[in-house]
Amino acid sequence: AKKIKIAIDGPAGSGKSTIAEKLANILKINYLNSGALYRIIGYYLNEQKMDPKDSKNIENILEKLNIEIKNNRYFLDGVDVTTTIKDSKIGDLASLYSQNNIVRKKVNEIIKQIAEKVSIVVDGRDIGTVVLPDSDIKIYLTASLEERAKRRWNEEKGEEANISFNDILEEIKSRDYNDSNRSIAPLKPARDAIIIDTTNLSIEEVLQKILKIVEESG
Ligand code: C5P
Repeated sequence: AKKIKIAIDGPAGSGKSTIAEKLANILKINYLNSGALYRIIGYYLNEQKMDPKDSKNIENILEKLNIEIKNNRYFLDGVDVTTTIKDSKIGDLASLYSQNNIVRKKVNEIIKQIAEKVSIVVDGRDIGTVVLPDSDIKIYLTASLEERAKRRWNEEKGEEANISFNDILEEIKSRDYNDSNRSIAPLKPARDAIIIDTTNLSIEEVLQKILKIVEESG
């Protein structure tokens, strides 16, 4: 069968990881979460106390870094960090270090290597615009700021009882700002992306819309 590449981009809390993983399962193809790669690297560089602007030393460190992905689990030097990196503080580290072009190059290489070999759904901020511009299908998911904060709050309040809705809203707002206004690979829909506003849609409804797009694309 023909290989297929599906890019799903969008801001924090737009539901892209949930949708992308489910879509990949339904289509029985691979799923790659590019945000997880930025999170792993952000986490590691922070542990090493690296200055986010110190490209020379970052390059040396990244050359030796060993990231593996097996069954949707992410491993750093052999250790499963899938759960660790979900923390919102690590999301902030990812956002910080992802502004360095050496970091972006490393992540993009990993994604391209995998996408060359297998059919895949990749989610992120710049997949349709920069990393895999030749994707067969490009989806840009979005939702109102309030709705995205609400989703994150529902996810996180179980784990961190002392986090307020307003904290999360402010966090998402500043993440949006950083991701959309950075000079390299800013968050924006590709010219040929299909934009889906998920504010008033359930996960199931979004999935059905995308499956229809996949079907119609042949
Ligand atoms: O999607 P997620 O929240 O896990 O991404 C964490 C951070 O990684 C984002 O806020 C963004 O700064 C960065 N990122 C990126 N490009 C991607 C995916 C994530 O810059 N393709």
